[in-house]
Amino acid sequence: MILVKNIKKLVQAEPAQVRFRAGAEMQNLPCIDNAYLLVKGDKIESSGKMTALSEKMLEKYNEKVEIVDAAGKMVFPAFCDSHSPIVYAGSREIEYIDKIKGLSYEEIAKRGGGILNSVDRLRAASEDELFDSAWQRLEEVASFGTGAIEIKSGYGLDTENELKMLRVIRRLKEKSALTIKANFLAAHAVPREYIGRQTEYVDLIINEMIPMVAAEELADYVDVFCDRGFFTPEDTERILMQGIKYGLQPKIHANELDFSGGIQVGVKYNARSVDHIEYTGDDEIACLLGCVTMPTILPGAAFFLGMVYAPARKMIEAGLPVAMAGDYNPGSCPSGNMQFVLSMGCIKYGMIPEEAINAVTLNSAYAMGVEDELGTITVGKTANFFITKPISTIEFMPYAYGSNKVESLYLRGVKKY
Ligand code: NIG
Repeated sequence: MILVKNIKKLVQAEPAQVRFRAGAEMQNLPCIDNAYLLVKGDKIESSGKMTALSEKMLEKYNEKVEIVDAAGKMVFPAFCDSHSPIVYAGSREIEYIDKIKGLSYEEIAKRGGGILNSVDRLRAASEDELFDSAWQRLEEVASFGTGAIEIKSGYGLDTENELKMLRVIRRLKEKSALTIKANFLAAHAVPREYIGRQTEYVDLIINEMIPMVAAEELADYVDVFCDRGFFTPEDTERILMQGIKYGLQPKIHANELDFSGGIQVGVKYNARSVDHIEYTGDDEIACLLGCVTMPTILPGAAFFLGMVYAPARKMIEAGLPVAMAGDYNPGSCPSGNMQFVLSMGCIKYGMIPEEAINAVTLNSAYAMGVEDELGTITVGKTANFFITKPISTIEFMPYAYGSNKVESLYLRGVKKY
């Protein structure tokens, strides 16, 4: 057992099983000052005020207890990053220079760069090479406090290479202590060999890829980049219907480049989340209200691509929940630091720290379907949490952007860092 004692503040200490927080509720961040946290095996056993902790309470377990003194430090649930496609080969800093010189994401893609550039590199890489580089990225994000991550395919764009990516994700799932969900995103772009034949590529995804992915049980989710210049709402519907038939829940890349109809199609098919959503207007907000779909913002991508920021404030004030994810990928966000995402949520999206912390813990846990297990410090949940360096307030976490405030990370009740 592990007893973390003298915790200055135990953050997101939610006694009940809550699925997500929406609207004004996003300001609610239950915390316990001068707290303890008791971990048994891989689960949270109990938590409370230090004054409620007694020798007698521990005796009943009759187990060796490792004591961790967290005086001056805070404990947070580990971040859940519900969108970070970290399986890729090589980097794309050449395009970064094009971007600095003024080319847009779409213009770079139209010149054959962008996603297709990563596809060429991924097809040339072996499964082992992809595993090794993704493993390094997993270790890196964990060092910033991430304990769960959703990883996509989408740089293979043919049956062989999409399956290769998903098998790499499966190996990561098997070996890593992080909780990992796999998302099948062959509809990320039309591959070079299908340019001008987009419907035939959609047919290939539907008739060949989805049945094979399902047969090997390689994915939890099915995704489509439903946006201007990529896939249409009609393509998206066809792919989602087939994915659902094969037991895959939808998650959508939507409205990053325009009012694409992607949010509406995601909601129609009960997507777990709609991600990016820079172009969210009154119609999209009305459509999202009261549904099961988590609006998910990717601040790192909007920052890196210099795009408009999603109207998070307006969405929360309309009563919606908002999640934030890292989007670590070679094209739109070559960073997976969830502490930076937290800072961006406050400074660029106008969230107060409590809202932003909910967006990267409980709400992002929901966005990847792990809210019953992760995202809050709740008895019975998996013991994924980090201990901060000594910090003054919870506000210091988003305020002091750029530095790593995480001192140690515990995953499934075991110290990782
Ligand atoms: O989620 N927007 C689409 N897909 C990825 C980026 C892909 C890339 O440019 O490599 C994203 O940001």
